[in-house]
Amino acid sequence: MILAIETSCDDTCAAILDEERLLANIVSSQTEFHELYGGVVPEVASRHHLELINAVIAEALTVAGVKLAQITRVAVTTRPGLIGALLVGVASAKSIAYSLGIEFVGINHLEGHIAANYLGPDPVEPPFICLIASGGHTSIIHVQERDRFVQLGQTLDDAAGEALDKGARLLGLGYPGGAELDKLAAMGDPGYATFPICLNRAGNLDFSFSGVKTALYYFLKQKKVDEVEKHRADIAASYQSAIVSAIINKTLAAARACDCSRISLSGGVSANSELRGRFTSECEKLDLKLSIPSPGLCTDNAAMIASAARYLPAVPFPGYLSVGAVASGGFAV
Ligand code: KG4
Ligand code: ZN
Repeated sequence: MILAIETSCDDTCAAILDEERLLANIVSSQTEFHELYGGVVPEVASRHHLELINAVIAEALTVAGVKLAQITRVAVTTRPGLIGALLVGVASAKSIAYSLGIEFVGINHLEGHIAANYLGPDPVEPPFICLIASGGHTSIIHVQERDRFVQLGQTLDDAAGEALDKGARLLGLGYPGGAELDKLAAMGDPGYATFPICLNRAGNLDFSFSGVKTALYYFLKQKKVDEVEKHRADIAASYQSAIVSAIINKTLAAARACDCSRISLSGGVSANSELRGRFTSECEKLDLKLSIPSPGLCTDNAAMIASAARYLPAVPFPGYLSVGAVASGGFAV
């Protein structure tokens, strides 16, 4: 019986997993606190995690109908993420493991996103290419076995979700703007303007989204206000299309390079309608299988952390007491 905790960014999450059965998956979003500032404020996030974590764990136990004493393993995201936010989850997990005398497992957040694929009614079996595109990450990973993966590419600067959110802000939409941009873009013409498709060279599976964001900034600056107003949907569609094209081109190139016939999408950006639509038709054309976990398992959650914890050895006592949180992305396997 695994209790998992995830606090790497601005969602306070706890889940209970009993072997294959997900008994509870609680997410307390802090978006309303951060939208005031137009982005996640790390210190505000840590403080809210501190206020929410016990209540979120208690709710997970109640929903699961499980007592704390029944938990045999506690899993927690230790990296990458906002350091103060991670520390709240790590300290909570250590305390629970120590007080109950149970197993402790530290999880890489990206491994969690991959392991979301092993939950739900149709678990996906490796090998597959996993695209993780969120507000904090854009990575392409070749998942060879449940516990063996190779990162093929990642963003060199902004994440895809961050680029969509910042583009949305330049177009006067709220925070986080990805979903709003998606709606606006659906009404526009993606051929209206040309924005750069990042690192569009064969053999390179990395991303860079800072250039397309700057291109939008100068595009808007050079246009007359009424022209921008008239074409907001067209600009949104053109901008989003450049980002989606980069993601699709690189992910398909990764599948080709690894001779892999299945692609899985994860992270909040996988909710994007253009991304889903174009991936679906490209995969059909190329005879590739496409899997997208349910929305609640694609965005940040603790169920995916519990899932990953099934395939990793526990850190023995007292060693886990010195496990730290690490902000950087190092995806060591
Ligand atoms: O995985 P997630 O919930 O949290 C992390 O960032 O870790 O992803 C949030 C990101 C935000 O950048 C948000 O704007 C983006 O996912 N997003 C979308 C859509 N829904 C959420 N981006 C594009 N289209 C959407 N429909
Ligand atoms: Zn994430």
